[in-house]
Amino acid sequence: MPKPEKHVFVCVQNRGPGHPRGSCMQSGTAEIWDEFAYNFQQKNLNGRFALSNTGCLGPCNGPHVLVYPEGVMYGKVGKEDVAAIVDEHLLGGTPVERLMLPPEIWG
Ligand code: FES
Repeated sequence: MPKPEKHVFVCVQNRGPGHPRGSCMQSGTAEIWDEFAYNFQQKNLNGRFALSNTGCLGPCNGPHVLVYPEGVMYGKVGKEDVAAIVDEHLLGGTPVERLMLPPEIWG
């Protein structure tokens, strides 16, 4: 298996409705996951990039998407944003600034 150029992690954590911390699944991440999978298939990205679903990444109330090796965390990702992340960040090499969470989230 070749090492992927970038690895996309989509949080699919579900805490159920009304949980005080919230969760990405309750914020609509199911369709974000589906849209990433669709983009990977349509743009023939499997093998070059990796796509994984994951449990909580920390900030919650997403949908949140984390891209390595840069460690870029995206927040409130909408279905229409997925193609921008794929085209501009994965393929173009430039993270989508308007969707990025501030670096302080790692503090
Ligand atoms: S539930 Fe997705 S980041 Fe915590």
